[in-house]
Amino acid sequence: MTNEAGFSSASDGNGPDGSPDDWSGVLVAGRYRLERELGRGGMGRVWEALDTKTNRTVALKGLRDVQDSDERDEWVRRAQREAQALSRVEHQHVVGFHNVVEESGQVWIAMERFAPRTLGDVLREQGPLTVMHATDIGLQVLRALRAVHEAEVLHRDVKPDNILFHADGSALLMDFGIATYKGAPRVTQVGQVIGALEYLAPELVSMDPEDRRPASEASDLWSLGVTLYEMVEGRRPFEGVNDYEILLALREAQIPPMQFAGRLAAPIRALLHRDPARRPNAEAAEKLLELSRYTSTPPRGLLLDRIDRGPNESSRRPQQRDSIGSSGLLDWWSRFRRRSSQ
Ligand SMILES: Nc1ncnc2c1ncn2[C@@H]1O[C@H](COP(=O)(O)OP(=O)(O)O)[C@@H](O)[C@H]1O
Ligand SMILES: [Mg+2]
Repeated sequence: MTNEAGFSSASDGNGPDGSPDDWSGVLVAGRYRLERELGRGGMGRVWEALDTKTNRTVALKGLRDVQDSDERDEWVRRAQREAQALSRVEHQHVVGFHNVVEESGQVWIAMERFAPRTLGDVLREQGPLTVMHATDIGLQVLRALRAVHEAEVLHRDVKPDNILFHADGSALLMDFGIATYKGAPRVTQVGQVIGALEYLAPELVSMDPEDRRPASEASDLWSLGVTLYEMVEGRRPFEGVNDYEILLALREAQIPPMQFAGRLAAPIRALLHRDPARRPNAEAAEKLLELSRYTSTPPRGLLLDRIDRGPNESSRRPQQRDSIGSSGLLDWWSRFRRRSSQ
């Protein structure tokens, strides 16, 4: 089959002109004309396509080719779940969902099209970002995560390679390929589906089954903490030459000292709290990042001083309070910490 086709229906994996992988010009579901490949990952390929019904350009994500029919059914269910999860969230910092179509055992998700360059590409090409730039991106992704969690969706794959940018440089969360949502049908594990190990929260991968927890809002927040760390430090906090070594690093969860994080160090440490119950949720983390943004000096000492001493004693140090202005965020954060540690 050469047109109106999904990848799976190509007998030799070649495109319509016989060249490997070139599917440009193919009409999908009688509606979307593939124009060029935008990117590919573990789940499949993403194309720029013309929606001939509305005459607008979209991004169209299709499954990768899988020959085994049982395995293929699982991938189809997974793609259906991805579409379901994405369609539940509408937010300026989440890639917009347009449509999902199925054809010849292939699932296509039509969504808003952006420049395909991810935050991961930026970090690989340009190295680490300034603290201010990383804070802005962190705040935008946090707002996205708030909307995701409010829609009772868990993203489960927050990492620089799943963050795109608007034309104005603000960030967008994308790739709901392993997201789940309340009431989602269970799918069995096929292939590499648990998310990149370096970004996984330690409670998800605990070697002791008693300690192991399912994905949660807190585990998404951990992944954002790793992403923030990487943005400013230029390396991931928990690394290794193989999965085993990464797991060992995660199990210890000792955060390697930060040299460049400055005022982001405190929020990063909070997000990378080993105990998921002690991590701030998206709303709390957003306030914490805002606090770090408006603080002219690194807040780490202030924050820890204030929290350790408690509210009464801290009033003996008016100068320190003044230095963060009247935002009230520090008060709010110390109350939050006390509440969440009870
Ligand atoms: N809406 C989009 N607009 C532009 N490029 C996109 C879009 N969605 C994905 N891409 C590109 O395709 C790549 C793979 O997409 P992704 O959804 O992350 O797939 P996978 O689930 O296989 O990781 C991304 O890294 C990005 O470069
Ligand atoms: Mg991806």
